[in-house]
Amino acid sequence: MHSPARIVVTRDVPDAALKVLHDAGDVRVSGEDRPLRPEELREAVAGASAVVTMLHDRIDNAFAEAAGPGLRVVSNVAVGYDNIDVPALRAREVVVTNTPGVLTDATADLTFGLLLAVTRRLGEAERLLRAGTPWSFHLGFMLGTGLQDKTLGIVGLGQIGQAVARRALAFGMRIAYTGRKRVTEDVEKALDTTYLTMDELLREADVVSLHCPLTPATRHLINAETLRAMKPGAFLVNTTRGPVVDEPALAEALAGGVIAGAALDVFEKEPEVEPRLLTMENVVVTPHLGSATVETRTEMALLAARNVASVLAGNGPLNEVRA
Ligand code: DGY
Repeated sequence: MHSPARIVVTRDVPDAALKVLHDAGDVRVSGEDRPLRPEELREAVAGASAVVTMLHDRIDNAFAEAAGPGLRVVSNVAVGYDNIDVPALRAREVVVTNTPGVLTDATADLTFGLLLAVTRRLGEAERLLRAGTPWSFHLGFMLGTGLQDKTLGIVGLGQIGQAVARRALAFGMRIAYTGRKRVTEDVEKALDTTYLTMDELLREADVVSLHCPLTPATRHLINAETLRAMKPGAFLVNTTRGPVVDEPALAEALAGGVIAGAALDVFEKEPEVEPRLLTMENVVVTPHLGSATVETRTEMALLAARNVASVLAGNGPLNEVRA
């Protein structure tokens, strides 16, 4: 008789997903309430057929080597997979999967929350009240920037970028986008959007929102030079991956009034944040909460578990990453 497949989960997942995994094999969940260190991760995955990973796990050749020849699937509980050396795993015939779709709305909602927070100074306003600072209503008090008729420049009009565009349309914004490739004419029409080059978008957008994946081509896409190319009164929103923005350059640009403000859910060296950003009133920060709703995180974990179950059952992955 075959022994059950060994399934390793690198950080706790909701019960609904655990149930799917228990039905598929022998499950070991990390007992640590923190990311595993690389050596702990390698030790934990020895002999695994499947590993359910998080975006902070570095999945590379050393990981695959440690897991051994029985490794069949790595299922990342995230849509992004910049933590995984996909070609290295594919070369070993290990299937890599992710969780697209289920987190689109939650991430777009959070993006819009941040966009409103930074343009209407919500963090600053809350800090003012909590500090007990005296205030009274007057016509010039804590004025923000209105969104109506302003241009939202979306970098990467994929599923999340499109969901952000739909929300922005409801707020009366105009939508421009740039990216590696154009979307179909139907999508452009539905979102009433125009494709611009990166340079044009930076020149025209009142708010630039980043939705491209992190790749060698997008690392530090926003840097001192591209920040200088933005409108002086513009805002930057980042809910994709921290390293798309050169964080020290952003702090420099904000300090020098090159742009008006920034709202960031992701950081270059998570969980660290460039300290200067934390001192600035025109910066809104949240700790990687894009997909953080009960419903969405449950769906993400369930999809990751179903990917594992499907591969182990010999039915192939539901969401294979091939890049
Ligand atoms: C993802 O799925 O890539 C997110 O960053 C996690 O919410």
